[in-house]
Amino acid sequence: MKHFINLKDIPAKDLRRILIDAKKRKKARKKLNNLDHDKGTPLKGKLLIQMFEKSSLRTRLSFFLAISQLSGRTLTLRPDELHLSKGGESIEDTAKILSSFGDAFMLRTDNDEKLEEFKKHLTIPIINGLSPSSHPTQILSDVFTVEEIKKKPISKLNITWIGDSNNVLNSLIAASIKFSFKLKVGCPKKYQPNKNIMNYIKKNKNKITIYNDPKKAVLGADVIFSDKVISMNDKVNKKKKLKDFKNFKINRNLLKKCPRAIFLHCLPRGSEVDENVFKSKQSKVWLQALNRVHVQKSILLYCLGKLR
Ligand code: CP
Ligand code: NVA
Repeated sequence: MKHFINLKDIPAKDLRRILIDAKKRKKARKKLNNLDHDKGTPLKGKLLIQMFEKSSLRTRLSFFLAISQLSGRTLTLRPDELHLSKGGESIEDTAKILSSFGDAFMLRTDNDEKLEEFKKHLTIPIINGLSPSSHPTQILSDVFTVEEIKKKPISKLNITWIGDSNNVLNSLIAASIKFSFKLKVGCPKKYQPNKNIMNYIKKNKNKITIYNDPKKAVLGADVIFSDKVISMNDKVNKKKKLKDFKNFKINRNLLKKCPRAIFLHCLPRGSEVDENVFKSKQSKVWLQALNRVHVQKSILLYCLGKLR
């Protein structure tokens, strides 16, 4: 049994094994319908319990399809219906019940400590479906998408992030260390990654460069990643933050500086990207969203010790 909480804690070779499995499975499903089962019904009889303490469209749907295609089932709990959310039951006891009724637990939460606390008491794997500090299932899937489109290992590509220093960027930074790719980050000085993240980058002698000029950050890019300037539950002066990011909008002019780049965005989007770019040929956001099903299937198999 393996947990999937943060990319930085998962061995690089395991992350690569997950991607290799996802590629094989995706290829083998070309003629199948959404709910058709993969050959071998690898998670027959298994139940994935999901809980979202914050909004979700893609993560919810993609985990539903992922476990369904592996012949398992999913049940989504509403946090407001559990005793836990009202202080009427401990994480320890909730975890005990989840472990005896289910086979894996996927949690989207606004509290990183909660993931750790659940991990301590669960006897089934826990998967982080987004927390304040990371969004690991998203970024592993994005590595898959980049390699699928560019037909090259991501270590041979130049990756750029334009946007806030948030959970998705933290996972991208962890991925750049695990998969050894060059990463340029473009953001206003005030919104650069925090000390802990900068120390993690330094400790791993990684090649991450931070620019406060978006035009410099995108030069030579094969991929441009972005995300909303204001994340869920971001307790900032929203108007001020959006204004601070005004020069970091991804528009046609910016993309002219990196003509071979594809544009990726985890979604949902805000005002950080121009409609023209979002709907252009360079934008691969819909394939990116769909690929989450394929990669999360292999994440589930990894966690349950069934990766081929
Ligand atoms: N990208 C992503 O995680 O989307 P949802 O918030 O809709 O799940
Ligand atoms: N950074 C965003 C990602 C949403 C999928 C957020 O946390 O709201």
